[in-house]
Amino acid sequence: MRAIGARPPGQSPCVTEVEESVRRLAALDKGAARGRPCMLVVCRGCCCGSPRKHPGTDHEGQLARLRAAAAESDGRLAIRTSECLGPCGQANLVVVQPSGEGRRRGARAVWVGWVLSDDGIDDLLAWATAGGPGMAAPSPALELQFVPSPAEARARTRAPEPRAPR
Ligand code: FES
Repeated sequence: MRAIGARPPGQSPCVTEVEESVRRLAALDKGAARGRPCMLVVCRGCCCGSPRKHPGTDHEGQLARLRAAAAESDGRLAIRTSECLGPCGQANLVVVQPSGEGRRRGARAVWVGWVLSDDGIDDLLAWATAGGPGMAAPSPALELQFVPSPAEARARTRAPEPRAPR
């Protein structure tokens, strides 16, 4: 019987070392992905965050609140801004990307539209700090603001009509 970790007869020591390195890198990558925080991608393109389009919203104040929450989250929440993400008619748009653990549980990014009120920011922060997609349930009010991503919207319009039964 071969000892654990011992090289099989005839195999080069380099092959064993390379295999071991690949295994270690894969484990590290899995660990890093699992530790990835829930990420809020806040659109700040032509319409989202625009006082001209939505004069009643304190766009800068909302972004500051999100950033402050991320700073206090101990690495569980991250904020990033983005250029126009596409569905400008649903501004202000925020994409909630699942944490590494949420993704491992099968969650996908959730697109949230019309994030204009302080209540909307409260709901978004409550959900994201509780873990976000795959980890916690959003408030029913926030769920009403979920919108399809542009790819999902395109797929829906391309779906073939069901055939009538003969
Ligand atoms: S500016 Fe936000 S979706 Fe276009």
